[in-house]
Amino acid sequence: MPEMGNSLRAAALLAFVVLSILVSLLISSVQQFGARISYFSNATVAGDEEEFASLRGALIYQLNERRKEIIPLLSPDYDDDDDENGLPGESRRSLHSDQTQDSILDYSLWNEITHGSRRAHMDEMGCDSLVDMQAVEILGSGYTKLVVKVNLAGGQPVALKLVNEQGIDMGKCVEDFRDPRGCRELVSYKLKKEIVLLQRLQHPNVIKLKGHCAGAAGGGGGGGGGEDGRVTVILEQGNPLQMIQLLQSPWEDRFRVCLDLVRLLHFLSQSPLGSVALLDFQPRQFVTVSGELKLTDLDDASAEETSCQRDADCTLQFPHRNFTLPCSAQGVCVGLNEKRNIYNAYRYFFTYLLPHQAPPGFTHLVDHIMNSTGELKADINQTLEAFEHILLLYKSGLHLDNLPPSIIRDYTVMRGMGTSGNAEYRCWPSYSQQGCVLSVHSAREAAFICNSHSQCNSFTLTGRKTWTGRLLASFSSSFSHLVPDGTSEVYVKKTKAPEASTV
Ligand SMILES: Nc1ncnc2c1ncn2[C@@H]1O[C@H](COP(=O)(O)OP(=O)(O)O)[C@@H](O)[C@H]1O
Ligand SMILES: *[C@@H]1O[C@H](CO)[C@@H](O)[C@H](O)[C@H]1NC(C)=O
Ligand SMILES: *[C@@H]1O[C@H](CO)[C@@H](O)[C@H](O)[C@H]1NC(C)=O
Ligand SMILES: *[C@@H]1O[C@H](CO)[C@@H](O)[C@H](O)[C@H]1NC(C)=O
Ligand SMILES: *[C@@H]1O[C@H](CO)[C@@H](O)[C@H](O)[C@H]1NC(C)=O
Ligand SMILES: [Mg+2]
Repeated sequence: MPEMGNSLRAAALLAFVVLSILVSLLISSVQQFGARISYFSNATVAGDEEEFASLRGALIYQLNERRKEIIPLLSPDYDDDDDENGLPGESRRSLHSDQTQDSILDYSLWNEITHGSRRAHMDEMGCDSLVDMQAVEILGSGYTKLVVKVNLAGGQPVALKLVNEQGIDMGKCVEDFRDPRGCRELVSYKLKKEIVLLQRLQHPNVIKLKGHCAGAAGGGGGGGGGEDGRVTVILEQGNPLQMIQLLQSPWEDRFRVCLDLVRLLHFLSQSPLGSVALLDFQPRQFVTVSGELKLTDLDDASAEETSCQRDADCTLQFPHRNFTLPCSAQGVCVGLNEKRNIYNAYRYFFTYLLPHQAPPGFTHLVDHIMNSTGELKADINQTLEAFEHILLLYKSGLHLDNLPPSIIRDYTVMRGMGTSGNAEYRCWPSYSQQGCVLSVHSAREAAFICNSHSQCNSFTLTGRKTWTGRLLASFSSSFSHLVPDGTSEVYVKKTKAPEASTV
């Protein structure tokens, strides 16, 4: 059957041809497809690189901006350009030689912050101080920084400030630039700025800088390597300001916080950097060290002056109040930074801490302070004067002049004695949880207080004093024993004396 054989052969040939066409089509389409893949992959790679390069560029731009922000803070000429011409030649020259010395110091500080951990000043701690430290607890954290209490090898407690990896600053940066390492460096600039500001703005009410460590975070503390822009700031350790707790404290302690704040603002109004405004003025930017208020967050301190053409350019806006300040002939808003600070002190601190339970002798003085700061009628000098005046009266007891001197004659005094087995009663706000312990200027004031408490029959002037030097007096309704105590005096109401001094 040759025909059948032929047709079979033809079919096979056809099949072969079709198959090979199919195969070649397939191959070419695969090739095309492959070409497409490679085209797309080229495109995405190029796009990624472009985008990455632009992100990197933006981040580098940001890093430079941060650096530029710090440099003028280092330069001693920072706030000197305007009165340059006003200075007579000689004093100007001497000023300049001082400045040269200053600037050498300051640039060595900058180099150090940027490049290493060597000590800038003899009393400063460096990375070596952090070897063998022990972390104790987290003291606080904010948008930018994490603050940890550690005990150094010698046992000394300090606060370490680090970049807060979980903070908003870091989070936003990584979202924008997708570069954790670069972001850590960027956020570290805030720590570097803070180091410089702490160096230049030394004051009893600014947290004390003990040192810093650039590079890896501490010998003991984990964390990778060397020159990645990381910074650890070593500070004296304080206690975060607890407003709720402060609201329950004696007026004397609340007054102290306000006075310290005013002293700080007075200093900032004419600091080495010029008039400095605290742009983020909230209680959480402060700590106390043995009851003394200290500013710890200097990120948002600004010595910039606002330029203006007319008064309307010099407005201070707050949620419930706006103010307009004068524009000077030189075209700057006069006292804008100072006034901003005063109003913030009024709204975040004075309104909560000052009027409540002020001693009766001070109410008109406190009202006056509240009004002149709340209306921005007083500058910081006048405000400080008003506060120091109250302190003086408080220490001297002059505000108590209208207490009858005879009042103390109702009491029998036993010097060199203390009491035990007291029947305590509570009063508020007491320095002691169990009993009624208040500060007094003298036995006379204590007698006045005892007379005003129905439960009070005796009081003891302990040897202890408050920060103003006032005496701590412990009031009680009765006691069972007198005990020898060289530092204290017991006063007993005369009518109750026989009953109280059993044995
Ligand atoms: N020296 C310190 N001692 C104790 N706590 C501190 C100290 N410094 C800061 N803190 C606490 O850490 C928190 C964060 O520090 P801060 O400098 O304000 O960081 P951020 O710039 O992120 O707000 C503060 O609100 C404060 O409660
Ligand atoms: C893909 O990239 C290579 C090398 O960069 C290039 O030679 C090629 O022309 C690119 N292909 C396309 C389709 O863009
Ligand atoms: C403060 O000024 C702003 C802008 O001019 C205005 O919107 C706001 O209502 C003012 N607030 C008060 C309390 O006057
Ligand atoms: C200041 O005193 C004036 C006049 O007594 C009063 O109208 C104003 O509300 C007071 N302002 C503040 C902030 O207490
Ligand atoms: C405030 O007091 C300082 C001195 O403490 C003084 O140099 C400055 O001129 C005073 N400012 C005003 C506005 O009185
Ligand atoms: Mg803060």
